[in-house]
This record gives sequence, C-alpha cells and structure tokens, in this order.
Amino acid sequence: MFDVIINKQDYIISVTGHTVILTGFYAVDIPDRTLLVTFQQVEGTDAFDIHKILETISINLAKIYNCKIFYYFPKNTFALENKHLDLMVLNKMDIKYFDEKQYDLNAFWLKKCDENEMINRIESSTLTCMILDNIKNVPVAFGRLFTQMGYLTYISDILTAEEYQSKGLGSSIVNCLLKAVMNDTENKHGLICLLCADKGAGKISAPKLYCKFGFKFLKDDDKKSSLFLDAQHEHD
Ligand SMILES: CC(C)(COP(=O)(O)OP(=O)(O)OC[C@H]1O[C@@H](n2cnc3c(N)ncnc32)[C@H](O)[C@@H]1OP(=O)(O)O)[C@@H](O)C(=O)NCCC(=O)NCCS
Repeated sequence: MFDVIINKQDYIISVTGHTVILTGFYAVDIPDRTLLVTFQQVEGTDAFDIHKILETISINLAKIYNCKIFYYFPKNTFALENKHLDLMVLNKMDIKYFDEKQYDLNAFWLKKCDENEMINRIESSTLTCMILDNIKNVPVAFGRLFTQMGYLTYISDILTAEEYQSKGLGSSIVNCLLKAVMNDTENKHGLICLLCADKGAGKISAPKLYCKFGFKFLKDDDKKSSLFLDAQHEHD
C-alpha cells in the first residue's frame, strides 16, 4: 500500500509505500486543462506499483483540476505503458531548429476563443508566439508553450489560418518556441511534449511539422519512457 499527499499550496506531490517513494512538484495550465508533474526523487522500480500510484494521483488531481496530466521522471527506470498514440516527445538535447528572424512574441489569436479565454491563455502561458500579416495587419499563425521550471515543456495551440497554410508559418512558430526553450541556459535537460492532431486540418501536416523538429510518437515498443500521460485523458 502507499500514501499519496497532494499539497495544493505549494504544488507538491509525495508518495510513500513499501516499494516506491516519489516526490515532485506540479504546475497547472487552466485554459488548456493541462497539468505537468515532475518527479524529482524517485526510489523503487516496481512498474506495477508506479502504475497504481499514478492512477491514484490522477484520480485525486482530476477531482481538483479536471486536467490531463503529464508525468515526467528524471530517469528512464520504469517500463510505463503509454496508450496515447498522439503523444509526441522531444528531448531538449535533440532539438533541431533553424536560424531565422524573431517573430512578435506575447500576442495571441485563436478564432474559437472569446476575449476572456484569449487573455487567460496568454496569461497562463510561459511563452506565446504569433505571426502577423503586415499588409492586412491580421494575425495568421499562433503557438504557445507552458513549462514547469524547464524540466517539462508542453506545446499547444499551434495553428495557421487556413489560407496561409503550407507556407512555412507553422514551422516558424514551432522553431521560435523551440529556440526559446534552447535559450533557457539554466535547464539544458528535460522533455518537450505535445499531443499531435490526429484529425481535422492538421491530420497530415501536424505530424510532418513536428517530426521535422525531432519529435517522435511514443510507440508500443518504446515503453521505457520518462513521460507518462494519465489514462483518464481523452480528446476534447
Ligand atoms: C498543423 C498546421 C499548424 C501546420 O501549419 P502550416 O503553416 O501549414 O505549416 P508549414 O507550412 O510549416 O508545414 C509543415 C509541414 O507540413 C506539411 N504540410 C503543410 N500543409 C500540408 C498539406 N495540406 N498536406 C500535406 N502536408 C502539408 C508541409 O509540407 C511541411 O512539411 P515540410 O516542411 O517537410 O514540407 C496547420 O495545418 C493547422 O493550423 N492545422 C489546424 C490546427 C492543428 O491541427 N494544429 C496542430 C495541433 S497539434
């Protein structure tokens, strides 16, 4: 058996049990209902116990935040079975990006959002990136990222207006965000993750886009992962 303690004031999670001890901290992105958990102290390697513990933590956190949850482990010690085929991961050390001019940062555009939601998304992001059409003076591409002290970075809301797609704007946005991650000199290690579109306008282009930068889908045969997405998560 084990005890799971979630400290909502300081965003700390600790678990103690017969075979496993885990201690970590978490951060929440409310607009995207995303929660990043980074475990720092990890003792024990019983994958069955870890699964059980993550299930319990997920249930407890879901009651408080109703979020999808990403778990990051510093060492690849667990054979965690991740069933989310749309989950892509990139190790900071393996980032591929291009040199190009900087685009306007800290702006936001998303057709489906109302103004308040836009504000929430900007404020809760660690970094947002937008490309403007200078002639029409309208935003045409957008992306943002959310990170937990550099260990775990989550990229979301990558989109290009329909009539501007296939011109390299999506690539520029991802490039710009990844460049910012690389410029974080304090934390050279860590993972960047995202959920890749598997339907709609991005079904074909999104995987192409992310693969270019080195992102890889977590496959069935790649179970020794230091990243785990909670089993409760389903597409919105
Ligand atoms: C995914 C998306 C952001 C890509 O934006 P974009 O501005 O078209 O991206 P780029 O022009 O940089 O193209 C990226 C890659 O996709 C490919 N691509 C773009 N449009 C394509 C299309 N219609 N069919 C096939 N491939 C396409 C490009 O060839 C490029 O790969 P390459 O550099 O190897 O040639 C855009 O399609 C979009 O907004 N989709 C809807 C929202 C969405 O699904 N976002 C992703 C969430 S995970």
